[in-house]
Amino acid sequence: MILNRYSRVLTQDESLPASQAMIIGSGVPYEDLNKPFVGIGSTGFDGNPCNMHLTTLAALQKKSVLDTKQMVGLLFNTIGVSDGITNGNDGMRYSLPSREIIADSIETMAGAHFHDGIIFTAGCDKNMPGAIMAMARLNRPAIMVYGGTIGGGNYKGEKLNIVSAFEAYGKKINGKISEEDFKEVIKNSCPGPGACGGMYTANTMATAIEVMGMSLPYSSSSPARSEEKKKECMNIGKHIYNLLEKDIKPSDIITPASILNALRVVTILGGSTNAALHMIAIARTMGIPLDLAQLQKITDTTPLLADMKPSGKYLMEDLHALGGTPAVMKFMLEEGMIDGNCLTVTGKTIAENLKDLPGLPKDQDLLRPVSNPIKKEGHIQVLYGNIAKKGAVAKITGHEGEKFEGTAICFDSEVAANEGIREGKVKPGNVVVIRYVGPKGGPGMPEMLKPTSAIIGAGLGDKVALITDGRFSGGSHGFVVGHITPEAMEGGELALVKDGDTILIDAIKNQIEVKVTPEELELRKKNWVKPPYRVTSGYLWKYIQLVQDASTGCLTDL
Ligand code: FES
Repeated sequence: MILNRYSRVLTQDESLPASQAMIIGSGVPYEDLNKPFVGIGSTGFDGNPCNMHLTTLAALQKKSVLDTKQMVGLLFNTIGVSDGITNGNDGMRYSLPSREIIADSIETMAGAHFHDGIIFTAGCDKNMPGAIMAMARLNRPAIMVYGGTIGGGNYKGEKLNIVSAFEAYGKKINGKISEEDFKEVIKNSCPGPGACGGMYTANTMATAIEVMGMSLPYSSSSPARSEEKKKECMNIGKHIYNLLEKDIKPSDIITPASILNALRVVTILGGSTNAALHMIAIARTMGIPLDLAQLQKITDTTPLLADMKPSGKYLMEDLHALGGTPAVMKFMLEEGMIDGNCLTVTGKTIAENLKDLPGLPKDQDLLRPVSNPIKKEGHIQVLYGNIAKKGAVAKITGHEGEKFEGTAICFDSEVAANEGIREGKVKPGNVVVIRYVGPKGGPGMPEMLKPTSAIIGAGLGDKVALITDGRFSGGSHGFVVGHITPEAMEGGELALVKDGDTILIDAIKNQIEVKVTPEELELRKKNWVKPPYRVTSGYLWKYIQLVQDASTGCLTDL
C-alpha cells in the first residue's frame, strides 16, 4: 500500500533531484526518502504560558514518529497570539486574524513540502480552530494535540487563574483590594505552562475537538505539565501511522454528526461563545453547512450541566482529576447526547474508545445530572432584532437572569469603554454598548474581557448588560451579548443607537431590540457617516478586505 501519497511527488520523481538533495541535506537519510513524511507543527513560542512548552512537546512527537522507523518526521512552527496578553490592548486586533494565519501556514507548509500526514500541537485560543481548519483544507491524515491546561494559582488560600488577574483591576480601582494584594494576584495567577484554566476558549475548543474526534482521548483535559500529556506525545507515532495506513482523513472524522457532538459538549460544559464562531468556521471549511439557527437548536435541546469557570467554580485540572474529557463523553454517550458511531483519530469510534475507560466518579459535583441541570437549556443564545438583523450571540448561564432592559451608554471603542467604566460613567441599569469593534471595525473583532472584568470588579456584574459587535473572551461573564451582525462599521443598526435609548435583551424570546420607531431608525441611518478604518496597511488591512461577518464564522477564504 502506498503511504507516501504526497511526498512521493518530491521523493520518487527523478526529475526532481534538487528537491531530494535538499531533503537529504536537511538530515533525512537517502533510504528514508520513500517513507511517508509527517509534518509535526506547533504554535510554540516564548512569552506565553499557553505556547511556551509546545516545541518541547513537538520534539517528543518527532521522536515517537522516528521510533516507528516507518516515517520521516519534520518539525515546523507557525505564529500564534496570546489572547490573555493582548486582551485590553491593540494586540487583540491580531487575535482572531491569527487563526487564519495559523491555518494558512499549516496549509502552506504541508502543501509546499508534500507532507503525507500532520501532527499539530496547539495551545492558545485561536491555535486550535486554526489547526483544524488547515487539516480540513488539506484533508490528509492528521491529529491535533492540545498543549494542555495550566495549573491553578493560589494566593492567601484563594484559587487564582488569569481571570482573577483581569478582575483584580476592577477591584483595585474600586478600592476593594490593597496595592500589595493586587501585585500578588498578578504574580500568582499563572503558575507555569498551559492554557488558561477555566472553560474559556482554549479549553472549550480543545474539548470540542477531542469530542469531534480529531484529538486522542484525554488530549483536551491532560494538563500541560502532566505525565499523561508527555505520554500522549511519546505514543503519537503509532497513531499517525495507523491513520496513514488506513487512509483515515479529516473528512472521515469531521462530519455533521461529529460537529453536533462537539457543539453538545460545548453546551453542557458552558463553553466560550467563541465556539459559535470557530465551529461555524470549521464546519464550513469542511464543507458542512452550519449557521447560528442550528446552534440555537442545540442550545434549545441541551442543558448546561457543568459548574466550571468563568461562571462556576471548577477548572479544567479539576475535570482532569475526575476522569477528564473521556469521562464526560461516557456520561454523554449514556445519556444519548452524542453519537458514539463517529470515527476518531484512534481509527476507532467514540463508543469503542470509551468502552474500557472509566466514567465520572459518583460523588462529584462538577457535572450535574441531566435531571438537575444548572440551566435547562444551553447558555449560548442566538438573538435577533432591529440591532442584530443577522444575529448576535449571548452567553446566558442563568446566574445573570434571562432578560435585561436598560438605558444605552455608547462607546465607539474598547478604550473609550474602559475609560468610561473607570470614571464611573456606567451606572446600574445601563446597557453598555461597545461598537466599531467588529471583524472590520476593530479590526479583528477584539474580545471585551477588560470591560467585562472591570464591570464585574466594580460590582456591577448583575446590574448592567454589555452588548457589542466585538467578541468575548471565554473568561467573560455577566449579562453579555456579542457578535452583533451586521457590525457597526458595515452600517449595522448598532451604529445608530444613542445614549439614553432603551435596549431590551430577552434571552427567552431570543430578542435584542433598541426601542425606537422604525422611522427614527431610518432617519438616523440616513445621517450615519461611515468612519474611516482604523488600519490602512499591512496584514490587518488585508484582513479587513477579506473577512466575512461573525454570523458566518469570520472566514477569509470561502
Ligand atoms: Fe492562551 Fe488564555 S491566553 S488560553
